[in-house]
Amino acid sequence: MRLKTRSCFSPLCRRPAGERLEQDTAFGRRTGITVLVLAVLLLFTGCGAQRDDSLRIGVALYTQDDTFISAMAQNLEWMVREAESETGRKITLFIADGRSSQAAQMDQVDRFLARGCDVLCVNLVDRTAAAVIADKAEAEGVPLIFFNRQPVAEDIQRWDQIYYVGADARESGELQGRLVLDAWQADQEALDRNGDGILQYVMLEGEPGHQDSLLRTEYSIKAVADGGVEVEKLANETANWNRAQAAARTAQWLEEFGSGIEVIFSNNDDMALGAIDALADTPRDCWPLIVGVDATAPALEAVAGGQLYGTVHNDGRGQAQAMMDLALTLWSGGDPAQAVELAEGHYVWLPYRAVTLENLEEFTEE
Ligand code: GAL
Ligand code: CA
Repeated sequence: MRLKTRSCFSPLCRRPAGERLEQDTAFGRRTGITVLVLAVLLLFTGCGAQRDDSLRIGVALYTQDDTFISAMAQNLEWMVREAESETGRKITLFIADGRSSQAAQMDQVDRFLARGCDVLCVNLVDRTAAAVIADKAEAEGVPLIFFNRQPVAEDIQRWDQIYYVGADARESGELQGRLVLDAWQADQEALDRNGDGILQYVMLEGEPGHQDSLLRTEYSIKAVADGGVEVEKLANETANWNRAQAAARTAQWLEEFGSGIEVIFSNNDDMALGAIDALADTPRDCWPLIVGVDATAPALEAVAGGQLYGTVHNDGRGQAQAMMDLALTLWSGGDPAQAVELAEGHYVWLPYRAVTLENLEEFTEE
């Protein structure tokens, strides 16, 4: 039996005060009063056994404590409101914070299914958990959209109602590498501080095993090397996409290598901002060149301020839009290929774009 109650397990999900009561009944806190109110509601609306015609989307985030992901969740909320006014249909978005625990995310997925969600959007904590979630969704006949954390192809192909919305990690690495290559070619003297003709760098890596960590790390350096520049890695370490961890790593490297670091490659902007934090006491003319990925608002500010040389725009809004378009189409039984540009029947790829001071305006206007 599927109740028409709503739930919300995340503070991201804000509801008008009038809806609080339904929300409270959904998860625990079953005081005598709320149970009574629910019983009365069921009596008067007759709901309880049947589904209404509203669309329910369950969104499971790997963690809400991630700048890029929380911005995506916010975009989804705006798009839901927009789609509601465009279609005149009620759309309910449930957002769950996995707090970096795959076990917690599994429970959240189970609850979404138990509550009758029509479409699931899953930002996996652990990419290898995709098969289990795919099988749960298929068993309930609920279409599943993975996003941002890409499962292996075999998991995506388990069922024809499984999709992946994201961006090509390799492309982001190549674009980041080319930013550095361009800077080197434009003014080698400024970048090659020790004048040895070799580019000395450190690499701040995202979470181990994440496609974006692996491929950005590999293809950024490959792009520089393919451009004919000799590179020397001084150090690399994971900072798990995290600003504070990146600041700590960079501080260690600054102690160890000092001005020997010519470039800091960072797998994302939050970590690049952490590197900038660590450089606070270093005179600006001794700073290495720093590049990130995402084009988050604070990173764009850092590009404007000249602390961050460049970044690569990760189109979170485009990804959220593709997820909404897919969800609406799947729910109404339409052809997904008409709604989004579908590759190999399962994938929606949003392009990356390089950002520097030169084209910054295009992104700050967005
Ligand atoms: C990447 C993004 C990172 C982080 C990560 C989470 O695409 O660049 O900043 O959000 O996804 O999976
Ligand atoms: Ca050098």
